[in-house]
Amino acid sequence: MDRKDFIKSCGFACIGGGAFLQSCNSTKLLSGKIAGDDIIIPVTDFETKNGNNIYFKKYIVVQNEILQYPICVYRKNENEYTALWMRCTHQGTELQVFGDKLQCPAHGSEFDNIGGVQNGPADAKLRTFPVTIENNQLKISLKAV
Ligand code: FES
Repeated sequence: MDRKDFIKSCGFACIGGGAFLQSCNSTKLLSGKIAGDDIIIPVTDFETKNGNNIYFKKYIVVQNEILQYPICVYRKNENEYTALWMRCTHQGTELQVFGDKLQCPAHGSEFDNIGGVQNGPADAKLRTFPVTIENNQLKISLKAV
């Protein structure tokens, strides 16, 4: 499936970019860009600094105007990331992120940080997107997996 088909199948609207960075207390709008079939996120978007110390956020939430739902990107370590489409597999409600869990406000389904169902009524895992790292940037492929 190419990007055009993916956009059609997901009910996407128009092209544009932006990424939200979530922390415990705030959501911050970051710039994002589309390159071919990928959404590009700088690895540094996971960084947070306190003085000279650099810490890494567990996850960020990417919101792009072409996406009907955001994508939650979890950072396991510097080489491993998981990108999850935040669309509940029960009836399509947008999920909310709480640490290592994604929860559905509609009927209470819960998913883990790799998309597995922890609590129903959803019975299918979340859609994931391949993530690669190039030149200190994450490329989240929107091609079908
Ligand atoms: S839509 Fe998410 S649990 Fe029903």
